[in-house]
Amino acid sequence: MREKRKKIKEILSKSSVGERVTAMGWVRTKRESKNVVFIAINDGSTIDNIQAVGDTGKFDEALLRKVNTGASVAVTGELVESQGAGQAVELQAEIIEVFGEANPEQYPLQPKRHSLEFLREIAHLRPRTNTFSAIMRVRHQLAFAVHQFFHEKGFVYINTPIITASDAEGAGETFKVTNFDLEKLPKGEDGKIDYTQDFFGKLTNLTVSGQLEGELGALALGEIYTFGPTFRAENSNTTRHLAEFWMIEPEMAFYDLTDNMDLAEEMLKYLIKSAMDNCQSDLAFLDKRLAEEEKVKPQQERSEMGLLERLKFILENDFERVSYSDAIEILKRSKPNQKKKFKYLIEEWGADLQSEHERFLVEKHFKKPVILYNYPKDIKAFYMYQNDDDKTVAAMDILFPGIGEIIGGSQREDRMDKLKARMDQMGIPSEELWWYLDTRKFGSVPHSGYGLGFERMVQFVTGMGNIRDVIPFPRTPDNCEF
Ligand code: 4AD
Ligand code: MG
Repeated sequence: MREKRKKIKEILSKSSVGERVTAMGWVRTKRESKNVVFIAINDGSTIDNIQAVGDTGKFDEALLRKVNTGASVAVTGELVESQGAGQAVELQAEIIEVFGEANPEQYPLQPKRHSLEFLREIAHLRPRTNTFSAIMRVRHQLAFAVHQFFHEKGFVYINTPIITASDAEGAGETFKVTNFDLEKLPKGEDGKIDYTQDFFGKLTNLTVSGQLEGELGALALGEIYTFGPTFRAENSNTTRHLAEFWMIEPEMAFYDLTDNMDLAEEMLKYLIKSAMDNCQSDLAFLDKRLAEEEKVKPQQERSEMGLLERLKFILENDFERVSYSDAIEILKRSKPNQKKKFKYLIEEWGADLQSEHERFLVEKHFKKPVILYNYPKDIKAFYMYQNDDDKTVAAMDILFPGIGEIIGGSQREDRMDKLKARMDQMGIPSEELWWYLDTRKFGSVPHSGYGLGFERMVQFVTGMGNIRDVIPFPRTPDNCEF
């Protein structure tokens, strides 16, 4: 008879020798010596496997033949002191049951190291590997910590719409939402598509950010945050961009830019600490994984710190706060700029910073996270607070080593006349955003907010080089499998 199932994490941490338990999971490896079979089982609750040991003579040969890498099993038996190194206990198999077989000729995951590229092609199975199960557990912990952090501070979690008619960032990188028959688009007399006949009676798209609606929440509830999916049709095939990613966007009434930076820094440290406190074995595994990956890199590309060291370093150091103008001076005088090593040379104030510049500041110059603030207004969105110099806006970006921009935010323009003028200048249709402008008309207050790219955060904490490896099913140009 089976016992009531216990998770492997619980068995390994809480059960003691002599207890009879039932573990269920997927076989990672099976080894057979003369009279003994060793089965390593993992159920996703922890990076660690439980080892089941059985006398081959006690089991049906046909049954044991079904126990292969990838098969799902239930093993019942007594916990005994482990003979091998590593684990304290192992399971003396008494009953072995097979739920589902995995034909070794067809099952793509074998007990060896697979490349991350190959695993992306089998994203439906990759959570069964150590690396991806560890990443998914860390991702979960970070998501949980986001809610915990804001909840402890009294923020209200609000859900902003996924379908919208606006493009908050004004970059025109939206995916359209329609139920038109694309083969038979209704046209008006001018020959243009007649969106009044579409589902919502107007042209709509998937949201690029929940911020504008978030602001409406902050101007009623004081402090809110969103945590939802966002969509961007930017055709950038990089290791930091997804077409569908998750964003955390807090928005706070009565916060100025400094309050905003303080909150963001505190939050990032809180999230990292939460992962370090609660995902020790997963992070230890990922730390080792990264160290091995670094070993094969050329010397000058290797990072100076290991994963755990990096995380600890963030917790223990203040972020460097630097104005855009100061950063431009540093970049202009920098070696890679002087020696024309940057792809985009920094020649004058006003230049948009590329990731090569951000990474120079963080990784070479300051060697710690950097908060850049007060950017030229012409390279930022319409909603940012216009500083007195008439040239800059109260924006802030947080740059992380190995990642570049992880957070983008600002104090918001809360003065109706200034906001309206900027929208007109930038060609943002103010009639369509009448509801947004209403908050400036009725009881407007200074307020601020920012957006944290969740996958970039998971990337930083897990040390994964490619953003496609920290989300279960990545959406990128030409790729929408699964
Ligand atoms: O800097 P962004 O575009 O800012 C906004 O969307 C603001 N509305 C946020 C706010 O103030 N409420 O995006 C914010 C963050 C970036 O710093 C980056 O971490 C992430 O979102 N991000 C992406 N992550 C993955 N793939 C992409 N294509 C991303 N684009 C932005
Ligand atoms: Mg940005």
